Amino acid sequence: MKKLILAALLATSASLAMAAPAHPWLDRSLSASVRAGSLAAAMTQDEKLVLVHGYFPPKAKPAQEMGMIPSAGHIPGIPRLGIPTLRESDASLGVANQVEQRKGDTATALPAGLATAATFNPELARSGGAMIGAEARAKTFNVLLAGGVNLTRDPWNGRNFEYLGEDPLLAGILAGEAIRGVESAHIVSTVKHFVLNSQETGRHVLDARISETALRESDLLAFQIAIERGRPGSVMCAYNKVNGDYACENEPLLNGVLKRDWHYPGWVMSDWGAVHSTEKAANAGLDQQSGQELDRALYFNQPLAEAVAAGRVSQARLDDMVRRILTGVIASGLYDDPVPATPQPIDLDTHADVAQAVAEQGMVLLKNEGDLLPIAASARRIVLIGAHADVGVLSGGGSSQVRSTGGAPVEIPLTKGEAASFARMTWHASSPLKALQAALPGADIRYVDGSDPVAAAAAAKQADLAIVFAWQWQSEAQDAETLALPDDQDALIAAVAGANAHSLVVLETGGPVLMPWLAKVPAVLQAWYPGQRGGEALARILTGAVSPSGRLPMTFPVSADQAPRPEPMGLANLRAAEARRAAGDKTDYGMSAGVAPFTIDYREGADVGYRWYQKTGRKPLFPFGYGLSYTRFSYGTPAIVGGAAPSVSFEVTNAGERAGADVPQIYVEAGGIYRLAGFARVALLPGQTQRVTISLEPRTFARFEKGWVVDGGARRFRIGRSASDVVYEGTLDLLPTRMAP
Ligand code: BGC
Repeated sequence: MKKLILAALLATSASLAMAAPAHPWLDRSLSASVRAGSLAAAMTQDEKLVLVHGYFPPKAKPAQEMGMIPSAGHIPGIPRLGIPTLRESDASLGVANQVEQRKGDTATALPAGLATAATFNPELARSGGAMIGAEARAKTFNVLLAGGVNLTRDPWNGRNFEYLGEDPLLAGILAGEAIRGVESAHIVSTVKHFVLNSQETGRHVLDARISETALRESDLLAFQIAIERGRPGSVMCAYNKVNGDYACENEPLLNGVLKRDWHYPGWVMSDWGAVHSTEKAANAGLDQQSGQELDRALYFNQPLAEAVAAGRVSQARLDDMVRRILTGVIASGLYDDPVPATPQPIDLDTHADVAQAVAEQGMVLLKNEGDLLPIAASARRIVLIGAHADVGVLSGGGSSQVRSTGGAPVEIPLTKGEAASFARMTWHASSPLKALQAALPGADIRYVDGSDPVAAAAAAKQADLAIVFAWQWQSEAQDAETLALPDDQDALIAAVAGANAHSLVVLETGGPVLMPWLAKVPAVLQAWYPGQRGGEALARILTGAVSPSGRLPMTFPVSADQAPRPEPMGLANLRAAEARRAAGDKTDYGMSAGVAPFTIDYREGADVGYRWYQKTGRKPLFPFGYGLSYTRFSYGTPAIVGGAAPSVSFEVTNAGERAGADVPQIYVEAGGIYRLAGFARVALLPGQTQRVTISLEPRTFARFEKGWVVDGGARRFRIGRSASDVVYEGTLDLLPTRMAP
C-alpha cells in the first residue's frame, strides 16, 4: 500500500515537473501578474465570466448546493486550474459574524480601529491584521474585507470607529500594516472604501464633491500609503458618488488614479450593492461585482457576456479583469498555499493577548486632575456605574461586528433604520467589574446600572471612588445625529460628580462626544470600543499596571459647530424617505431606501481634522495627537537633516517614576498649515533615554500638481506632543523635488 502511494506521489510530482514549462502560472519565479496572465489565457470565456461576479450567501439562491458559508461573499473557483473558491468575510476588527449568521462561530474581537490608530504603533497594527488573517484562514475564509481607511471628516460618522482617524499619514501607515498582517496568512485583504464614503447617511445616493488636489492630499493619500505598504490584493470601491460619478464606475478614480498613476496591479471589487451599470463600470475600471444579489441587477454575468460579445466592453478588458483578480490571489500567496478545506484549531489565548495589547496601548487619558488615576491604594470602596460594566464592554455595529469568543452578554436589536437588518447593539463578554475586583482584591467594588441618577449618586456618595462608564453606540448605515451622549448620560455623570469629587468617566464611544460635565470631573479615560479584553485592559490602566499611552487619532471638538459640518448631510432627505415609508409607500428602492440624492461639498478640502482647526483658528476640546500619561517625557535638542529625504532625530527621556510610552510627532508646514509628517512610539522605563529618528514623508507637505511637488528652501516644522502642544520649532532645508503622482 505504502509503495503504491509513493509511486502515485512520484508520478504526480513528475507530471508537475514536466508540466511546469507548459504552465507558467505554476512557476513561482515569475511575477504574480505574469503568472496571472498565463492562467487567464488558459481559461475559457465561461470560466472568466465566473470570476468577475460574486454571490451574497444570505440571499444567494443556490447557497447550500454551492457550499457557501454564511458570510459576505462567495465566488466559485475553477478546480481544473487550481483557482480556489473565494470565500469572503468582513474583518475590520476580527473575523465578523454579524447577527450571528453562523451560530456559535466566535472569533477574537479587536478594539475599534480608532483604538489601533490611537496606539500610533504600526507593529501592533500588523499583529492585529496577522491575528485576523490567521483566524480567517483557520475558518477557511480567504478574502478579507478589511483595511478600512476612510478619513474622519466628521466626528459623527457612524463608521469612524472602524477606521483609523483623520490624518492620512497615520491612517495610511496603520492600514497598510494591518493589511500586511492579514496577507501574511497567505490570504487576500482589501483596502476600502475607495473613496470619500465619509458619512453613512445617504451613502448610496450622496455625491461627494471635492477638488482633485484636495482629494490627493487627504483621503487618496491615505489609500496610496496603505496600498504601498500593505499591497492588498483588492481595493473595494465605495457606495457614494465622487464628483458626479458613482465610485464603482468612476473612470478618473479607478482607471486614472488607482491603475494608471499608482500602477495598482490587483482588482477592484465593488462594495455590496454599489454597482449601477455594466459597460460604464467595466470600462471605468471595476473588475468584480460583489454580493450581486444586493444590486438592482446582475450587471457582471450575462449582461457583461453580452457586452463583450457586442464589443461594448472589449475582450481585452475582460481578460484584464480576470488577470487582476488572479494577480491578487497569487501575490497574496493564496494560490500556492490554499486555505484548508475544513476549519482548524485557533490559538485563542495568544490572539486575545493581541486584542488586549491594542486596548492597553490605545486608550487615551484625556484628563487626570490631582492624579486621580491610577487608583490610590487608599481607595477601599469603588462603585462602577452604567454601560453594563458588570458584564462587558460595548462594540460598534455593522458588517465589522465580531461575535467574540466569550459571547455577547448583552445584545439589543434595533427597531428601525437601515442598520436594523444587520446590526444589534452588542457587548463583548469582558467585565470591567470582575477585572477590577481581581486586580484590587482588598477593595469593595460594586456595580449599579446607572438607570437612576439619584441611586447612582447615592452609591457614589458611599464610595471612595466612582467610575461612570458612558457609552455611545455607533454603527455602519447610520450616523450619530448629535455628539451628545445618548440616554441622559450627561445628567447621570453630573449627578455622580456632584455627589463625589473623586469621580471619573470612562468613555466607550465611537468617536468624540460632547462633555458638558468636563469641568466637574477630575479624570476622563477614552476607551473607544475596547474589544474582547477591554475589561482587563481597563483594569490594568486604572490601577496603574500600565501607563496610558494612546494619543487621539482625531480632534475632539468643544461643540458640533466647530467642525466643518455640524450634523450629517442629507438628514432631511432621510427623514422624508422614512416618512413616505411610514405613510405606506411599499416601493422597492433597493439599497438607497428611497433617500433622494444630495451633494456634499467637502469645503475643508485637504484640511481635514486638526488642519481645519488650525486654518479657522478654532481651539478644540482635545487636539489630534493628544493623550496624558502617568509619567513624563522630555526631549533633547534635535539633529535635523534636510534635503530630499528629511528626518529629525532627538533623545526622548522618561523623566517620571513609572514605565510608559511616548509618541513624539513631527508637523511640517505646508501652505500655512502644519501637517503630520512623521511620528514614533517609544516605550521607556523610568529614567531611560532613547534616541528616535523620525523620517518625514514628503508627500504630507508637498503640493499636488499633476504629481507631488516639494518646493526647495527653508520650511518650518514642529516637534509636538499633539497637533497643538509644540515642544520645539525649527526649519528644514528642503531640496526641490518632484515625485510621481
Ligand atoms: C460595507 C462593506 C462590507 C460589505 C460586505 C457593506 O455594507 O460597506 O464594508 O465589506 O458590506 O459585508
